[in-house]
Amino acid sequence: MNKYRAIEGGGSLQGVVEVPGDKSISHRALILGSIAEGVTTISGFLNSEDPISTANCLRNLGVKIQNIIEGETFEVIGRGLEGYEEPKEILDCGNSGTTMRLIMGLLAGQKDKNFILNGDNSLIERPMGRVCKPLRMMGGKLFGREGGNKAPISISGTNLKGCVIGTPVASAQVKSAILLAGLTATGPTSVIEPASSRDHTERMLNAFGADIKIRGELGRNVVINPGRSLKGQKILIPGDISSASFWMIAASIIPNSNITIKNVGLNPTRVGILKVMDMMGCNYKIDGKSTIAGEMIGNIHVKTANELKPFTIRGDILPKLIDEIPILSVAACFCEGISHINDASELRVKETDRLKVMARQLKKFGATIEEKHDGLVINGNSKFIGADVDSETDHRVAMSLAIAALLAKGSSKIFRYEASNVSYPRFWNDLESLL
Ligand code: S3P
Repeated sequence: MNKYRAIEGGGSLQGVVEVPGDKSISHRALILGSIAEGVTTISGFLNSEDPISTANCLRNLGVKIQNIIEGETFEVIGRGLEGYEEPKEILDCGNSGTTMRLIMGLLAGQKDKNFILNGDNSLIERPMGRVCKPLRMMGGKLFGREGGNKAPISISGTNLKGCVIGTPVASAQVKSAILLAGLTATGPTSVIEPASSRDHTERMLNAFGADIKIRGELGRNVVINPGRSLKGQKILIPGDISSASFWMIAASIIPNSNITIKNVGLNPTRVGILKVMDMMGCNYKIDGKSTIAGEMIGNIHVKTANELKPFTIRGDILPKLIDEIPILSVAACFCEGISHINDASELRVKETDRLKVMARQLKKFGATIEEKHDGLVINGNSKFIGADVDSETDHRVAMSLAIAALLAKGSSKIFRYEASNVSYPRFWNDLESLL
């Protein structure tokens, strides 16, 4: 472990940046394209390790995916709802929870075909029972280590029946797996979540022509009726707000900063970070709002804030900023007072235990941060001193630590910085261009 990125504290962020395509939407575009009839064209695709894992799994299922404009626009030739080939190889989901969980739902109803899914050292320790269980309620035959809770996962495709399923956690990956399985079930499938998670699957299923209904308070109940075939679409993927959030927080804190991030996805189920930036008193504005392929986008302008107030996060907002907790924990270190992050135990089952890892790494810069069972308590007003820190292989930790290093006095080294390739391969180039 001797590869690192050196970062010098100081400077200011200036200029315009366009972050890469949304990761969640990129996975879903490939997946729905693969089960549609006809061709799906995806522009603004996130060509990073996680969506590439999905593309490779689909290729192993016989799906043709071609890169028609270098690294950016892809074409998927659909095979229809039940047209996958039985793969000769194990489907390798790499580091990607979205790939494994969504593909479990997709394959459970592929009758008389067998599949094995596996992943890297992080993914094989993440909970899969949350997907196996509801799919088994639908009649799915799924097996895995620890009673189906951990990969490798094997699936014997079979007839599924529609069900009403209440999920114990608000997880878009779990909800999406159930909805995908519902496409080939007999009868309607209804998912009820404890809080609403990101709704890209619902929006895209609707655009592809599926019979899907959103019901209940805040869209927490989604019903899918099988029977309709999906039609290939032209999809333009917005910039990922989770990638933009590193720049939004950095520019809010670093003195004399003034940046614009263009074409960022502003789906209401993803903009929890903007609410926290409001609580902090950040200086930002959004213009150029429009809707493309059912998803809202806009340009976000951020300038350094005068003074940052501490914040408290709890309850239903968590799913709307679940991937932004690492960078928000950096932000909290520079607020005037004590910030609280509560109800965040889901962070413990992400690519790493992000509560533990962020607390451990930020302390190396001098942060005052206390880890609780379901969150963090962070005393702001820290004066960060440059340090040697480690992403512990987690992409969002790597990028959050890079921003923390910019806020430190002196130089820092980020070890295992290349974890950022999972979601934002251009991150280090964009950082240089903004400095
Ligand atoms: C994702 C959902 C979230 C998120 C992940 C991507 C998705 O996970 O953390 O990065 O694309 O559905 P959960 O649904 O498990 O909360």
